[in-house]
Amino acid sequence: MDPKTVSECLGIQTDGHLTIGGCDTVRLAKEYGTPLYVMDETTIRNALRSFRTSMEQHYPNGFSVSFASKACSFKEMYRIVNEEQCTADVVSLGEMYTALQAGFPAEKLYFHGNNKTAYDLETAIGYGVGHYVVDNRSELLRLSRIAAMHQAQVKVLLRITPGIDAHTHDFVKTGQIDSKFGFTLETGEALQAVGEALSLPNLTLCGVHCHIGSQIFDEKPFAHAADVMLRFMAQIRDTYGVTLEELDLGGGFGIRYTDADEPLPYGEYMALVSDTLHKTAKELNYPMPRIVIEPGRSIVASAGITLYEIGHVKHIPGIRTYVNVDGGMADNPRYALYRADYTVIVANKADMAPTETVTIAGRCCESGDLIQEHTSLQPCEEGDILAVLATGAYNYSMASHYNRLPNPPVVMIRNGKARLVVKGESYKDLCRNDI
Ligand code: LLP
Repeated sequence: MDPKTVSECLGIQTDGHLTIGGCDTVRLAKEYGTPLYVMDETTIRNALRSFRTSMEQHYPNGFSVSFASKACSFKEMYRIVNEEQCTADVVSLGEMYTALQAGFPAEKLYFHGNNKTAYDLETAIGYGVGHYVVDNRSELLRLSRIAAMHQAQVKVLLRITPGIDAHTHDFVKTGQIDSKFGFTLETGEALQAVGEALSLPNLTLCGVHCHIGSQIFDEKPFAHAADVMLRFMAQIRDTYGVTLEELDLGGGFGIRYTDADEPLPYGEYMALVSDTLHKTAKELNYPMPRIVIEPGRSIVASAGITLYEIGHVKHIPGIRTYVNVDGGMADNPRYALYRADYTVIVANKADMAPTETVTIAGRCCESGDLIQEHTSLQPCEEGDILAVLATGAYNYSMASHYNRLPNPPVVMIRNGKARLVVKGESYKDLCRNDI
């Protein structure tokens, strides 16, 4: 198969080796060791730029592309996002600290999360974080109290659950009424919260936020959410006489993991959402708000691959063939968690046809430690390099230390040159906090 169908940054060179950003993946595996995350910087920058260009075209009066950094959080990512004039969404002090360490301006951060503690809020106020996306009433009161204590005036968006069921995996749906996130629209909780936010001291209510889920291919739920949210803003104006200026529509755009995935070009999602917003704004005589989007996966997923070395191929006649690799659920828990699909390829035999059907197994002491089941692969043996494609999102950021495995390094490719952007952990690193 042509790896380009999964990502433009991939290719096959004349010796049959898989390339990323023009670099030989087999050489990268030798040089940096395996498991190894490799990311192509041009793909990341192009994705950020194409969202910005599209937003500029649809919302000339104001917009922001806010990278959902939970998809991939390390210092170099925040540097790139900042250079591309985007803002960033952070959901923890860990992400926030990493961003600030990279020189990311605090005022360009949106602080998310459904259980921000008093310590989180105090620390964020100390840093001068730009926007707080408040999830619930306890947080609203807590934030007002802490902001008053620090004599700070903080900008707030309220996270609304718009009651929209996006067609995606149950674990990554967030917009439907049965959700732990946000103020519920249907019950009247959301409208009441707006009234309270407007009356509380030290808060400036700028707007509302929603995020309906992740890995969504259908553009209609996005447009539906945009319509519902703008109507809600008009209802706020009619109830409280306040015209809120910011509408954050979250992320969730689907990407291609395998040939079976057919994501729309992002421009088409953006065009439909923009048409809907412009029509609804006109109908309601509402000034077009400043629109924020929060893409995560669609910025980084196809920029990344993971390289492993195959340690053993176990044939069980009449049952299946396991290909055991030197990583697994500790560096990529997505199959174990969501039965997520991936395209896999033998990096040193990328020009060969995939003739085998195999299961890729990790090295953790756990039968469920699988990367993919019943997937087609080139014939392979011990010592071959296996590449799992489109692992740039929610892999490094979801890695664990299960079985006390150190996290692999991350290498970034720019102009055909590789550089280390996150060192691999050492065994000493693993023990650094043990007493
Ligand atoms: N904004 C908010 C408020 C979010 O909760 C998320 C993702 C995003 C934006 C970015 O969504 P994206 O564009 O990346 O779809 N671990 C799961 C995905 C969880 C998504 C959580 N929230 C996975 O590996 O598929």
